[in-house]
Amino acid sequence: MSSVVLGVTGGIAAYKACEVLRRFTESGHDVTVVPTAAALEFVGAPTWAALSGKPVATDVWTSVAEVPHVRIGQQADLVLVAPATADLLARAAHGLADDLLTNTLLTARCPVVMAPAMHTEMWEHPATQSNVALLRERGVVVLEPAVGRLTGADTGKGRLPEPAEIHAAAVDVLERSAVAPVERDLAGRHVVVSAGGGREYLDPVRFLGNRSSGLQGWALARTAAVRGAEVTLVAANVDLPDPPGVRVVHVGSTVELGDAVRTAAESADAVVMSAAPADFRPLERSESKIKKAEDGSAPTLALAQNPDILAGLTRDRARAGQVIVGFAAETGDADHSVLDLGRAKLARKGCELLVVNDVSGGRVFGETDNEAVVLGSDGSLVEVPRGSKAALAHVIWDCVRDRW
Ligand code: CTP
Repeated sequence: MSSVVLGVTGGIAAYKACEVLRRFTESGHDVTVVPTAAALEFVGAPTWAALSGKPVATDVWTSVAEVPHVRIGQQADLVLVAPATADLLARAAHGLADDLLTNTLLTARCPVVMAPAMHTEMWEHPATQSNVALLRERGVVVLEPAVGRLTGADTGKGRLPEPAEIHAAAVDVLERSAVAPVERDLAGRHVVVSAGGGREYLDPVRFLGNRSSGLQGWALARTAAVRGAEVTLVAANVDLPDPPGVRVVHVGSTVELGDAVRTAAESADAVVMSAAPADFRPLERSESKIKKAEDGSAPTLALAQNPDILAGLTRDRARAGQVIVGFAAETGDADHSVLDLGRAKLARKGCELLVVNDVSGGRVFGETDNEAVVLGSDGSLVEVPRGSKAALAHVIWDCVRDRW
């Protein structure tokens, strides 16, 4: 069981940290909450104690015999501060140690993730920006705030990302750091990820679709952003909160998916096609709902083939040196193994990398785990054992980075 410290600072978004905490405890983590005094103005100590099952303190003078100002940080496997105010970022950047949370940050040697939330002016202020840059330079993972409704009637950048995404990003960092240090090794690169499945409408209410959940694409986008990339996520019919710092473009049909991916790819260093476009669409779409016939006969559906987006991207490369990654969900057949089919598809699609999933028996779709083989056009083969979709995402980005 990993030991997580959840630092909470004094912003209105502190109430959302209750949901982050619940997600950690439900996923089997041992959580110590360290609120600042200002955080307790928003959400009281009994809430944190009840949700974490542990007493909480804000200062270094409680339970002194246990030396909490050193012990909590030393014993942590991960420190997450959510929300992190401008004040906390400043104190952490400058190594102040005037309460239990800042002492914990100084003694922790584990990965540290911060999810800032504040008004846009405070976020954009050069002082805050240079504090963030300094913290990142030292290896702290500072998530980008979301754009949206702020405390008052105003909107802008500075909103706390959704708790589910903060939790997912923090768990990714915790897992990844067991394998490799979490670095901003994709900084300065623009990557495009597609996720979800195309919906091909027959009429205003009916569509042909597929079972793609978008979870692998979300993991790819989230991990790339944590590693410093500028990320465009083209999402076809996925109902998940935006990953922190990721520009999400929502689309419906496969044709829209292709248009959005090609537009984003013009400035991209890598494109990862993890979406499941629909191979076919109804030849005609009825403007009104198709009615049942009186005589009980069923309509015949004529289909047209959709363009292959991935093959188009590799054929008309937007930029030299762009790394293009495809996915293949294969079941194998009597004559061909999953890998045989993967190699043939890699050659046919003309991409640099192909992530091959064995989906016999309906595996992978909608599951949180994945297992795959990453084939390279240079003949390379990387086996990724069963693990989280984030773990696979990291391996894919490692392969992409190595090709750059
Ligand atoms: N893909 C695409 N455009 C399509 C269909 C698929 O870009 N119209 C991409 C997927 O995003 C994936 C890869 O191609 O990255 C593999 O998709 P798949 O459907 O397995 O390949 P197909 O060429 O359709 O092969 P098969 O006949 O085996 O289904």
